[in-house]
Amino acid sequence: MGKAAVVVVAGVAIVCAAAACAAAAVVVSSRMRVRSQRRHARNVLQEFQEACSTPLPRLRQVVDAMAVEMHAGLVSEGGSRLKMLPTFVDRLPHGDEKGLYYAVDLGGTNFRVLRVQLGGKQGRVIKQEYEEVAIPPELMIGSSEELFDFIAKELSSFVAREGDGFRPVAGQSREIGFTFSFPVQQTALNSGTLLNWTKGFKVVDAIGQDVVAALQTCIRKRGHEMRIAALVNDTVGTLAGGRYWNEDVMIAVILGTGTNAAYVERAQAISKCGNVLPKSGQMVINMEWGNFWSSHLPRTQADEALDNETMNPGEQGFEKMISGMYLGDVVRRVLLKMAQEAALFGPNVPRKMLEAFSLGTPDMSKMHADESSDLKVVGNVLRDVYGIENTSLAVRKIVYEVCDTVAERGARLAAAGIVGILKKIGRDGTHSKWKVASEQNHVNGWEEVGSPVASECGKTVVAMDGGLYERYSKFRAYMQAAVVELLGDASKDVVVELSKDGSGIGAALLAASVSQNGRK
Ligand code: BGC
Repeated sequence: MGKAAVVVVAGVAIVCAAAACAAAAVVVSSRMRVRSQRRHARNVLQEFQEACSTPLPRLRQVVDAMAVEMHAGLVSEGGSRLKMLPTFVDRLPHGDEKGLYYAVDLGGTNFRVLRVQLGGKQGRVIKQEYEEVAIPPELMIGSSEELFDFIAKELSSFVAREGDGFRPVAGQSREIGFTFSFPVQQTALNSGTLLNWTKGFKVVDAIGQDVVAALQTCIRKRGHEMRIAALVNDTVGTLAGGRYWNEDVMIAVILGTGTNAAYVERAQAISKCGNVLPKSGQMVINMEWGNFWSSHLPRTQADEALDNETMNPGEQGFEKMISGMYLGDVVRRVLLKMAQEAALFGPNVPRKMLEAFSLGTPDMSKMHADESSDLKVVGNVLRDVYGIENTSLAVRKIVYEVCDTVAERGARLAAAGIVGILKKIGRDGTHSKWKVASEQNHVNGWEEVGSPVASECGKTVVAMDGGLYERYSKFRAYMQAAVVELLGDASKDVVVELSKDGSGIGAALLAASVSQNGRK
């Protein structure tokens, strides 16, 4: 080989080496960029996890705040963000109820109609049927007449299909329990005005209206002689449905699209009712705990941003950290921040991720339930919902962690809410303290005389319902574990149990127990 040729070969080799180096440098620098982006995403995650954390002392503060606010809400109207609404349910079903009853149930994304044939202590629920339809979204923000007419129409076509095995007691007309799962100021068991909407409903002209009168008018217009005998929040229906089967049920909690709790309170403790107290000495209180607020709640920027974009900013703060309507969107907001600040899903932010509520809680729950070693389901959900292809395991892990953080926080806060109620009614196991308190008449400035204590009451059952609790198993597990963590030994006297679809039946049972025809 001549000298010139050697020089050319050497030159080519140098050029190739330089190209290889350049390519390697590009790969290295892109790897470094990806690593630094992951690091950034992990920092965002860590910051979020810290802001969401609910260590035991903090949870205990939430428990105490819940008990204090419950008291304040019972003393005076507007005394607390907890509305603590009297329900006029002073007697819960006991099993004697007989006859045919209907229930209509409006409260979430679906609407239900139901009929039940009750057979008294022996027969119990002889037969029941129900139908469920999705609420057309336009009705959630339309006019009151359209909404109530829709309910009356569905009820009417359901009644028309009443088949064998359903018979009203002779001479008895069909009566209805109306489950209406929004804050209502009741003036009697069968009347009450809507205070405000929640869960994405905004039928403005219904606010301040008597919802029973509104529905009753629409039912009559359709030519039915059916009477609404009871207006019932879903928590109250769940309490009634739970109590029908188990007399230890004292509390009901809904963890679904929205969240709320109801419980049995001593009539004397409801000071804001003045002298209009039930003879039975007890009344069910609809807490409307979704609107609970305390400075001890671990609120993040994502929660604030979410709140600002809802139809009811500044309202339902507890609900927005806990319930099915919102959890998925909290996750989305954190992922969006990671996409924008750390290019977690590549150079472009997935367009759909900018859309509020584009990640539903069912999708979040699916990702969170993924036990596979490569988090395949997480990858599939990211692909199906946001069109993000080929995510790495590292990215999927981060997404999984965000779901875990949001679910754990919500579940632990719900547990603190439950223990707050147990504390208020003297069933959280601190009974010796409460006994001393009874002797002194006051604790923290409030009277607790006469609160039944756990040792005198045996078990306390909390009836749970709602899709979030029923279908999101990790949420449920976190919640149950936190109840045990908070109650310690006393948790052996507290049973948290699913009371599936109890609210519709519960409303029918309450209609039955006050039925004018059924009165003896
Ligand atoms: C409503 C409550 C209801 C709860 C669960 C909340 O948004 O304000 O009345 O009980 O959702 O459905």
